[in-house]
Amino acid sequence: MSDTQTPHPAHIAIVMDGNGRWASQRFLPRLAGHKQGVDALMRIVQACGSRNISTLTVFAFSSENWNRPTEEVSGLMDLLVGSLGRELDRLKKEGVRLRFIGTRAGLTEKVSARLLQAELETASNRALTLNVCFNYGGRWDIVQAANALRERGEPITEQSLDAALALSPSSDPDLFIRTGGEYRISNFLLWQAAYAELFFSPRLWPDFTEQDLDEAIAEFQKRERRFGKTSEQLS
Ligand code: FPP
Repeated sequence: MSDTQTPHPAHIAIVMDGNGRWASQRFLPRLAGHKQGVDALMRIVQACGSRNISTLTVFAFSSENWNRPTEEVSGLMDLLVGSLGRELDRLKKEGVRLRFIGTRAGLTEKVSARLLQAELETASNRALTLNVCFNYGGRWDIVQAANALRERGEPITEQSLDAALALSPSSDPDLFIRTGGEYRISNFLLWQAAYAELFFSPRLWPDFTEQDLDEAIAEFQKRERRFGKTSEQLS
């Protein structure tokens, strides 16, 4: 098959689910699962870089995750700052541009400042854009975009709303992966996933490997993306 028949997904989005269960199965605190989750993320970032994928968008902390036990929430905040401290140099060397998508409301000054600094330090990198959705919800994003347009007195159209979403100017994801065996979107990229191919993996996120990524990409390449057209119209 030629490349035009089996395109590579340019943009992959991932709901990294299963950290808590990975930890419970080992009688470890949930945070140990999130730590392993960071390692899995670093593996997949590197794998995307070597597979011609231009954008990876991951769900790291949802608007609803504030409802988790206080120590898990503060542990995730610390993990984010600590992981940036440890991994930023490596990400820079790999040409990764980091963007944090979500509201800074509710984050401490320290966390907000660290996110901004990482964004500024990687802004000119082009090998891979890593969008980390943090303090993010798809509904929040649509509402903030609509409010921004209203405040600017601009008409709300599909195009203007799309451009006002926090993920813009990243393209829509081509492939949407959820690990951990659940079959839900969970308020992730509600607008942008309109035509994404969905792939659900039973693997818990800390166990997700390069081979699992390849399996998802291979499955994507078997799908016929019709964008509302008929099969005949595509040929
Ligand atoms: C869902 O698993 C995962 C999260 C809520 C956090 C995802 C975060 C990471 C992979 C680490 C990278 C992010 C940071 C902050 C550096 P779950 O806890 O809901 O798992 P469960 O369904 O098994 O309980």
